[in-house]
Amino acid sequence: MKREKIKDLLLSPAPGDAILAMGWVKTRRDSKDFSFIELNDGSCLSNLQVIADHSLKNFDVIRTITTGSSIKVHGILSLSKGAGQKYEVQAKEIEILDPAPDTFPLQKKRHTDEFLRSIAHLRSRTNKYSAVFRIRSELSFAIHQFFNDRGFFYIHTPIITGSDCEGAGEMFRVSTLNPHEPMKPDDSGKLNFSEDFFGKEAKLTVSGQLSAEMLALGLGDVYTFGPTFRAENSNTSRHMAEFWMLEPEMAFCDLQGNMDMAQALMKSLTRHILEKCSEDMDLFFKFVDTGLKATLENLLASEFIRLPYGEAVSILQKQANKFEFPVEFGKDLQSEHERFLAESHFKKPVIVFDYPKTIKPFYMRVNDDHQTVAAMDILVPGIGEIIGGSQREERLPVLLSRMEEMGLNQKDYWWYIDSRRFGSVPHSGFGLGFERMMMFLTGIRNIRDVIPFPRTPKSLEF
Ligand code: 4AD
Ligand code: MG
Repeated sequence: MKREKIKDLLLSPAPGDAILAMGWVKTRRDSKDFSFIELNDGSCLSNLQVIADHSLKNFDVIRTITTGSSIKVHGILSLSKGAGQKYEVQAKEIEILDPAPDTFPLQKKRHTDEFLRSIAHLRSRTNKYSAVFRIRSELSFAIHQFFNDRGFFYIHTPIITGSDCEGAGEMFRVSTLNPHEPMKPDDSGKLNFSEDFFGKEAKLTVSGQLSAEMLALGLGDVYTFGPTFRAENSNTSRHMAEFWMLEPEMAFCDLQGNMDMAQALMKSLTRHILEKCSEDMDLFFKFVDTGLKATLENLLASEFIRLPYGEAVSILQKQANKFEFPVEFGKDLQSEHERFLAESHFKKPVIVFDYPKTIKPFYMRVNDDHQTVAAMDILVPGIGEIIGGSQREERLPVLLSRMEEMGLNQKDYWWYIDSRRFGSVPHSGFGLGFERMMMFLTGIRNIRDVIPFPRTPKSLEF
């Protein structure tokens, strides 16, 4: 007999069938002649109620089944007499696959997020985290669906790289050199990587963008979606050393088109999750953030505000006493500023654009004022920056002078520069932090709680 998933059993058109279910016991309660087991197999939030009566040959053993044990149940799907659920199972045979001792840490009570982080390998056995991981899966799918529907090509950009896309120098080095044998400098006194695996210095990528641009400049519309690494030593609730980023890149597209696409994406992903994950989302509406539903509905209903960076600075300067960090034209916005704009001032997503060139990477297109670049960040309530993007500098002389200004070695970027030599075109793209989108959708406010095994400074368990 084939095992069926609880999700499918609960959607059965009619009762009466003999079924086989397997899963983990959430709880057991007993009456004189019956035991009631709440069984979950991860396929959905709902448990399947299994009813064992005293006629079962191992009834005594069944009455010892503990929370966390794995079991196998043959039975008959029947209409449930109790409220809440349509079906239950009248057990014909219950086999214990592996009993869990009472040291199983997830007994039926509420645990703190901090505690659960310390047993992240067991988090998928809880209601909240299994819901998070199911939504993560659906959100990935929604991303592919969104771009596939629009004729984008899904490309794979390298994880190991020789160039620093964002120019912030926050990269992890990849090396096979023996750490016990110090590297010898070359004749000019520079570190000599010729003995290393790639014969040059290699890093984990901070963004797939530069490679994505090369493919957009041949395929038109592309996106890359994969793990990204940042050696920022910041222990915040919205940064990790390893996170997932979605990066679309579009040829023949300017900053306005880029903003339009980003807004359409955020709305579409939100709508998709509300529709497809309604059972899991109800848990977050009820137990994580009671204002979440309104926030998401507000996003669907609203046009995002489009606000030049200069105007953002003016708005923030009027509230300077509210902030820990100063606001000044030419300084990057801090998370408190971003959140103020989206959460308190506009109360909806805000796209800040035309940032000063001094605080942005070399590849962003210089505006006619020569002071700002065609950059855009999307800020959302509760999180702050969720998307960062720009129109790219397609003019060769301007790109070269920007690289020089920023002290980048043209030799390291010869292939990138090449793309501006042979049929260069205006193009744009952005990066959506996948975990930040997960935070936005679930109301969870610590990024460590929306990824199975978070990687942060001084933390590499699991
Ligand atoms: O703004 P960022 O640095 O932009 C880029 O990397 C561009 N190359 C993207 C592009 O245009 N193709 O990062 C993009 C997004 C941020 O808005 C944020 O949501 C997320 O990635 N992000 C992080 N998420 C978690 N942990 C970190 N350390 C993150 N750093 C950035
Ligand atoms: Mg950014």
